[in-house]
Amino acid sequence: MRIAVYPGSFDPITNGHLDVIERASRLYDKLIVGVLSNVSKQPLFTAGERVKMIAQVTEHLENVEVDSFTGLLVDFAKSKKATVIVKGLRTVADFEYEFQMALLNKALNPEYETMFMMTDTKYSYISSSMVRELAGFHGDLTGLVPREIIKVIKEKYK
Ligand code: PNS
Repeated sequence: MRIAVYPGSFDPITNGHLDVIERASRLYDKLIVGVLSNVSKQPLFTAGERVKMIAQVTEHLENVEVDSFTGLLVDFAKSKKATVIVKGLRTVADFEYEFQMALLNKALNPEYETMFMMTDTKYSYISSSMVRELAGFHGDLTGLVPREIIKVIKEKYK
């Protein structure tokens, strides 16, 4: 069974993330979305809230699971018996950081491969930080995040 992990902060999940999840879920037997529960970074949503939102919008994907993790990604992957790490790439600006992370993860545990998936062009400009900024100014989030979670995001800025 080929198991892959798709890690990220997902603060909150965007349509770009969801597109990668949908496409990657077709390539692996199981795809586990790993939500980084980072204590040093102040997220907008708690790890529990982020997991819940992702579970809600991936309900239609039978081989997708969601869980949160702390610590190293390679340790999380190991605990889930995953051998592949899936990452999305939007622009060249993402490349340097992702390249470094992939090499570091490979050095930490050579058994894992990082697979990069190019974003669909229509989502290349979407990021969680842009969504948070826009939501903070009560902007329209239609098309940027899954419809089901727009209300939840708006609630945060009330
Ligand atoms: O969505 P993001 O914030 O770009 O995701 C970054 C993430 C969660 C993939 C990355 O920060 C991560 O893997 N963190 C876990 C700690 C770790 O393994 N770091 C790399 C080796 S120090």
